[in-house]
Amino acid sequence: MKVLSVVGSPRKDGNTAQVVEYLSNNLEGVDQDLIYLSDYELRPCLGCMRCVHTNRCVQQDGWDHIQSCLMEADVLILGFPTYYAFSLGFNAMTHVFLERWFALRHLGVRLKLKKIICVVSSGTSPEVAQKGLTDFFVNYHRLPAPEFLNVQTPIACMTCGVGDVCEMSGLALMAQDGIIYTPDMKPDLSKQPEIFEKAAQIAASISALRD
Ligand SMILES: Cc1cc2nc3c(=O)[nH]c(=O)nc-3n(C[C@H](O)[C@H](O)[C@H](O)COP(=O)(O)O)c2cc1C
Repeated sequence: MKVLSVVGSPRKDGNTAQVVEYLSNNLEGVDQDLIYLSDYELRPCLGCMRCVHTNRCVQQDGWDHIQSCLMEADVLILGFPTYYAFSLGFNAMTHVFLERWFALRHLGVRLKLKKIICVVSSGTSPEVAQKGLTDFFVNYHRLPAPEFLNVQTPIACMTCGVGDVCEMSGLALMAQDGIIYTPDMKPDLSKQPEIFEKAAQIAASISALRD
């Protein structure tokens, strides 16, 4: 059985990578591929429709390798951060990765994924990303509904360095609601042991699928 893990955050040492790596390190008895999207040049879909006849994208970039890994996978673990969480859902790097799945929607090509886990790193709301991805996998690709592991991460204004003085800051918005931000309020993975407990359970449930 093969598990493909994908880190959709550009930050290779960030929260998303840590949780995806933990999941992947806790798998037992399975073959694995671990992909950091930031290692690949991945261009957006051209809308040219040429993949319709071949199930292959005409663009010469990192997609070909990723598609091959995807087609071999029985389980997908996809981690990503929410950028503009309430309006766009997940970040552009992850969006481009998923857009390129269009090559896999024609001529009866079928992915054999039987389990999909999404790690959602967000300081505000994972809901837009969750809804979009459930729709993507179930309705567009006729795959199982994803299971979500939500990770509480800092909003950008808690880490950018000027969040306390910037008038556009999310911290200023919090202050309007009467919440005065102090650094001890910054979400931190080390304060969320339950994430790793849940991740270990998910890893065990994936390992149990092996033949
Ligand atoms: C461009 C940008 C936009 C962001 N927008 C949001 C947001 O709307 N809501 C939120 O909770 N976090 C937002 N963040 C913060 C990230 O989602 C999150 O803290 C972080 O990137 C977690 O993943 P990582 O550590 O793997 O990078 C944003 C970050 C960036 C760089």
